[in-house]
Amino acid sequence: MPLPPVIAIDGPTASGKGTVAAAIAQKLGFHYLDSGALYRLVALASKNQCIDIGNSAQLAVLAEKLPISFENGHIFLGEENVTEAIRTEEIGLRASTLAAYVDVRLALTGLQRSFLKPPGLVADGRDMASVIFPGAILKVFLTATAQARAERRYKQLIAKGIPAKLEDLLRDLQERDARDSNRGAAPLLVADGAKVLETSDLSIDQVVAVVLDWYQSVIAQH
Ligand code: CDP
Repeated sequence: MPLPPVIAIDGPTASGKGTVAAAIAQKLGFHYLDSGALYRLVALASKNQCIDIGNSAQLAVLAEKLPISFENGHIFLGEENVTEAIRTEEIGLRASTLAAYVDVRLALTGLQRSFLKPPGLVADGRDMASVIFPGAILKVFLTATAQARAERRYKQLIAKGIPAKLEDLLRDLQERDARDSNRGAAPLLVADGAKVLETSDLSIDQVVAVVLDWYQSVIAQH
């Protein structure tokens, strides 16, 4: 039996891929994988357990048996609802550090692939198209200038009542871009066959519409 279709959406931090991927999954009635949340969960759990960020072997063991569940848009670590706790910049930076370890990435591979179920999956991250779902029917790389992405993140945080400084966000984001792009293991890159969308001047709705259009044309060719 052929595998259900996957739409892989990759891109740098704050490129809007999470919001876009969730909206597309909802419109198509597909499952949704926020792969960054898994790296963030390892970051939070390892911080709680005081595991050294340099100890890749112990981090991988933790990643392998992470007690996580997704329920109605909420993310649980064991019994605890950590939906908000994993979204801080501190956890994002820690996630990006441990995401550079090959053994941590391998420990999360099976879990990510287990999200692929009928009728289909929209998966967002850094290596969805290149490593986790190389057979994806549609591969999209969303991008935007660092300035546009920092402004988006700033607005998101302020809207949530979280204090933020634009210049600090821009610096953190550039640091994360550099680390995600320059690492040896599954670096952030435009996968072979991926369609690139520059979103600096597009609204979320416009991006969703373009990706859905691309999906319809790919389906029509099958
Ligand atoms: O929200 P943001 O785009 O900043 O980050 P995220 O998608 O939640 O991912 C957090 C970190 O996990 C990223 O900085 C990446 O280093 C890492 N990550 C990864 O290496 N591979 C993925 N498929 C997803 C995230």
